[in-house]
Amino acid sequence: MRQLIAGNWKMFGKRADIEAFTAALRADAPAHVDMLVCPPFTLLDRFASTLAGSKIALGGQDCHPAAEGAHTGDISAAMIRDVGASHVILGHSERRTNHGETNAVVRGKAEAAIAAGLTPVICVGETEAEREAGEAEAVVRSQLAHSLPAQFSGVVAYEPVWAIGTGRTPTEDDVASMHAAIRKALVEQLGTAGAAIAILYGGSVKPANAAALLALPEVGGALVGGASLKAADFLAIATAAPL
Ligand code: PGA
Repeated sequence: MRQLIAGNWKMFGKRADIEAFTAALRADAPAHVDMLVCPPFTLLDRFASTLAGSKIALGGQDCHPAAEGAHTGDISAAMIRDVGASHVILGHSERRTNHGETNAVVRGKAEAAIAAGLTPVICVGETEAEREAGEAEAVVRSQLAHSLPAQFSGVVAYEPVWAIGTGRTPTEDDVASMHAAIRKALVEQLGTAGAAIAILYGGSVKPANAAALLALPEVGGALVGGASLKAADFLAIATAAPL
């Protein structure tokens, strides 16, 4: 399966940042991976025009579970689709923590995304305390069981909360064993469809550690935060993916 290298710009970026970034991606995106950029909502439309005709996909960072309605400040999956995006990140730990998003909320959003024709990228991952208590796999299994709709088609991103934005990453053995556990859980939950779901690793992926992380079994790509803001770093990570 081709790896997916996804960039999560979080709450960074202005219109003036787009042109140079997309020009670099258009020129140098490696052919052996799929690339996805998830900028803030305000930049989606302009990104869509700048990336038109390229193979680089575009995604949102969240959506509301309802198709439309009186929800001030929210954005629906159909609106994200309408500006030309194909993906949406859901259940990122920053949203689970800062906005109190439960697994049930994430599942509702995933259902809305799929209904609108978007591919959800569902984030799961344990806190440091949960890992120290030996509960990392149980926490992630529970997140998968309760955040994924019964008919899930999309992408899963394993992002240990303590590795996000910290420069720390799990050992290669820990990433490999968590990804194996996620694959097992996906097959148990979804049957043969679970075998085909890409499982991204996220949390302090940088050009320096990308080759080692992306070569691990069951790692189907990366969800990149900070390093996705600089085209050169994002491209170096994509280039490091195995052929
Ligand atoms: P980071 O963020 O690469 O800056 O650690 C990853 C993420 O939150 O998706």
